[in-house]
Amino acid sequence: MPALEPVLNTLDGNLDKSLERLFELLKIKSISTDPGFKAECRRAAEWLVDDLKSIGFDASIRDTPGHPMVVAHHAGPTPDSPHVLFYGHYDVQPVDPLDLWENDPFAPAIKDVGEGRKILTGRGTSDDKGQLMTFVEACRAYKQVHGQLPVKVSILFEGEEESGSPSLKPFLEANRDELKADFALVCDTGMWNAETPAISVGLRGLVGEEIVVKAADRDLHSGHFGGAAANPIRILAKVLADLHDDNGAVTIPGFYDGVEETPTQILQMWDGLGTTPESFLGPIGLSIPSGERGRSILELTWARPTAEINGITGGYTGQGFKTVIAAQASAKVSFRLVHKQDPGKIREALRAFVRERIPADCSVEFHEHGGSPAIQLSYESPLLTKAKNALSDEWPKPAVLIAMGGSIPIVGDFQRMLGMESLLVGFGLEDDRIHSPNEKYELNSFHKGQRSWARILAALAK
Ligand code: BES
Ligand code: ZN
Repeated sequence: MPALEPVLNTLDGNLDKSLERLFELLKIKSISTDPGFKAECRRAAEWLVDDLKSIGFDASIRDTPGHPMVVAHHAGPTPDSPHVLFYGHYDVQPVDPLDLWENDPFAPAIKDVGEGRKILTGRGTSDDKGQLMTFVEACRAYKQVHGQLPVKVSILFEGEEESGSPSLKPFLEANRDELKADFALVCDTGMWNAETPAISVGLRGLVGEEIVVKAADRDLHSGHFGGAAANPIRILAKVLADLHDDNGAVTIPGFYDGVEETPTQILQMWDGLGTTPESFLGPIGLSIPSGERGRSILELTWARPTAEINGITGGYTGQGFKTVIAAQASAKVSFRLVHKQDPGKIREALRAFVRERIPADCSVEFHEHGGSPAIQLSYESPLLTKAKNALSDEWPKPAVLIAMGGSIPIVGDFQRMLGMESLLVGFGLEDDRIHSPNEKYELNSFHKGQRSWARILAALAK
C-alpha cells in the first residue's frame, strides 16, 4: 500500500505549480455552446491530453460530431486493482454580460479577499476546470512520489456538458468496453459549506426547449396594424405566464406524473441542515421563495420539479424606441425534473400546452435542447462509506450526503448504458457564481480538493 502522507505533502509543496497549470487551462476560451469557439474547445482538449501524457496516462483526443472527448487510461498497481472512471468537463458557459465581470473572465487571477481567504477568479474556475484539475493533480502527485497510482484510473473529459452533451450517448455506446469501470467518480458538484464536504446522491433532470411564435409575415407598424394584427410577443408572454399558477405550481397537464412526496424522514434530515429563505436567498439579494408554496428551500431545489424561462426575445430592444409589431417572438424554457418524471412526456405535454394557446392564423415551432431524467443514487454503499471517511479526514467537519438542484446528465447515462454507478464529489461552494459573471473557486477548494482525491484514491485501493 503506497503511503498517503508523502503524497499529501507533495500536493502542498506543488500548489503554486498546480495553479500555473490550471491557469493555462482557464485561459482557453472553451465555450461549447457558441460555434465561434470551436477551435478553442479543441485547444482545451489538446491541452488536457498533453498534460495527462506528461503524468504517464495513455491519453488521446477523440473526435465526435461536436467537440472532442479526452480519454485516458493508467494501469493500477496490480492487474486486479479496482478500476475507476473519472469524469469532468472542459467546456464552460458563455461569459455575457461581459461588463459585469470585475476581471477578464479568461485572465484568471488569485484574489486575497481577507480573513485568510483567497479565491481564483475566471470562467471555469469552479465549473468545471478547477474541479477536474483537483483529480489530475492528485494523480500527478501519486506518480511523482510512488511512480504508480493506487488504483487503475481511466479518465473521460467532455467538451459539451454545458450545451446538453449531444455527442455523449453515441460516444458511450461506441466505446462501452473501453469506458466501463467498477464505478465513476464525478467532480462537478459542491460542498455543503466551506467547512463541510459533501457527497451528492440526488440530481435533478432537465428538459430544454425553444419556442418560436410566428404571426404576420413581416414586422409591422404598430399604429397602422395595431388592434387588427396578432402580436406574437403578447401571445408568447401569455403562454409563458400560464406556465405557473398563483401558488407557484406548474400548470402543464401531466407535469407532476411520476413526482413523489419526499419521505418525512428525509425532509426532517434536510431541515436539520438549517437552510432558511434568509440564508439561501439573502446572499443573492432576495428573501421570498418563488416556487410551490409551503415547501422548504431544500425541498424546492432538491426534490421538486420546476419550469423556468431562461431567455426571451422579440421586437425592438435597441436604443431609443420603435413602434413595431414583431413578426416573431421566441423563448427558451427549461424544466428541472425529479423522481420518475419522463423527459419525453414533459416535452410533448409542453408542446401541446403551447399549441392550444396559439391563434389559428399564427404558428409555432419548437427546437429541442436536451433532456435527461433525475438521478437518485444509493444512500448506503461501501464506496460511499470509504469516500465519506476519506473526506471527513481532510476537512474540519464530517462529510454529509446531500442532493443538488443542478443536472449532470451523464450520471444517468453511466447507469443505464454502462451499468456503472457514480460517486459525486466536488468542492464548489454555493457562492461560486457558476454560469454567472465573476465565477470563482476557493483556493482552499482547489488545494484541499486535490488532497481529498488523494485520500479517496487511497481509500478505494484498500
Ligand atoms: N456543474 C453543473 C451542475 C451542477 C450545478 C451541479 C449546481 C450541482 C449544482 C453543470 O456544469 C451544469 O451546469 N449542468 C447543466 C446541465 C445542462 C446544461 C445539460 C445544468 O444543470 O444546467
Ligand atoms: Zn459543470
